[in-house]
Amino acid sequence: MRDTYVNIDTKKEFVINMPGVDLVDAVIPTSSHVPFDVNEFELANLKERPSKKVKAPGIEGCYAWMEFQLHSMHEETYDGFPYLLILGKVVHLEVDDDIYNPEDGSWDLEKAKPLMMTESNQGMHFCTGNDIGKFEPYGACLKMVKTSYHGV
Ligand SMILES: Cc1cc2nc3c(=O)[nH]c(=O)nc-3n(C[C@H](O)[C@H](O)[C@H](O)COP(=O)(O)O)c2cc1C
Repeated sequence: MRDTYVNIDTKKEFVINMPGVDLVDAVIPTSSHVPFDVNEFELANLKERPSKKVKAPGIEGCYAWMEFQLHSMHEETYDGFPYLLILGKVVHLEVDDDIYNPEDGSWDLEKAKPLMMTESNQGMHFCTGNDIGKFEPYGACLKMVKTSYHGV
């Protein structure tokens, strides 16, 4: 059983940290299989960042943090493999002041350099993303568009 599962199941809370490319060398050590009592912050050379609404710490140096209270866990076996769906309620969301623009709510991705990954059958390819300068209000997704099917 993964440590992350045990921690969330017992503490009923968790933090999702959004790392930039500077933390690329830390992500592999945090996902290695080590005994439960091994401190993975130390293993990956990471510093704890106190959270605002939950006891679980975040990771220093990320550009955003989402603090969750556990809502529910759903276990299922599919094609012979075990799967676990974890649902949480966001109780605190924070973006680094250098990244967040309070005037229009945009994030400075040039500064954040979000750590991203594409996969192939050969392995993991690490990369980052750019702002493409396109904006729409949420309401744009809710507009009713008149359609006609088969002339009806
Ligand atoms: C780049 C990257 C991508 C990962 N993607 C997945 C994934 O899609 N599904 C998964 O179950 N684990 C994935 N892992 C492994 C999890 O990160 C790992 O379970 C997690 O770090 C917790 O490890 P621990 O609970 O043993 O400490 C990924 C790890 C890395 C470094």
